[in-house]
Amino acid sequence: MPGVPSDPSWPLAGIPPRLYGRRRGHRLRARQARLLAETLPRLTYRDLDFAAGAAALWLEVGFGGGEHTLALMAAHPEVAIIASEVYEQGLCSLLGRLVPEGEEATAPLPPRLRLWPHDARELLLTLPRGSLDGLFLMFPDPWPKARHAKRRFVHPAMLPVVHAALKPGGFWRIATDDPTYQAWVEEVLRPSPLFTAPPPARTRPPGWPPTRYEAKAIAAGREPLYWEWRRP
Ligand SMILES: C[S@@+](CC[C@H](N)C(=O)[O-])C[C@H]1O[C@@H](n2cnc3c(N)ncnc32)[C@H](O)[C@@H]1O
Repeated sequence: MPGVPSDPSWPLAGIPPRLYGRRRGHRLRARQARLLAETLPRLTYRDLDFAAGAAALWLEVGFGGGEHTLALMAAHPEVAIIASEVYEQGLCSLLGRLVPEGEEATAPLPPRLRLWPHDARELLLTLPRGSLDGLFLMFPDPWPKARHAKRRFVHPAMLPVVHAALKPGGFWRIATDDPTYQAWVEEVLRPSPLFTAPPPARTRPPGWPPTRYEAKAIAAGREPLYWEWRRP
């Protein structure tokens, strides 16, 4: 699979194959260990069969605690969603909301949800072309230092990858409160013929669920911007 550090076939010229964010936090409690060992394998994305008959297919990159994913699922039960997160505590947070304690191996799971507990860039590289109707990138890690720009999810090398994975007319939602990343999104995406968008909104558009990072940012006095890019 592309994306493993030793894989010489990593095709994203100019950006590193390794992921720089945290995968592990504090030691897992017993319940969290069971969620990862028993529930996660039952929900892990393997192929697109789970999306057969769904009205659309969406991918969320870096879902954090999963509140935004769960709100999307509740509002759009007809849509199949792949939700990606690499941080174990985040995965446990979402899984813990789906499964009662003691039923980690047996509780029924939402049929139209799959999790990708790896770098979302790897998944985007392997999805069939034109398979996604929408991509969500909510408050990505900003990596504000210029020398870390290659670690940002929004990157010139990613544009053709996202473009290929989206259907014509598909959307790419991006929200960020970081001023460096806000300017970066405009700098990277605005000149590209692969995507088009109106100017970003300064308040969360209707139909966009809130996220945990957004709440923290607003409480700290920062001002998020919200874009909806489209593949023409
Ligand atoms: C700043 S947090 C935002 C979380 C959530 N979207 C929110 O708004 O509350 C960014 C998250 O993206 C995850 N992440 C970063 N790079 C990723 C990647 N390449 N694939 C999947 N998840 C990633 C991180 O582990 C982190 O939990």
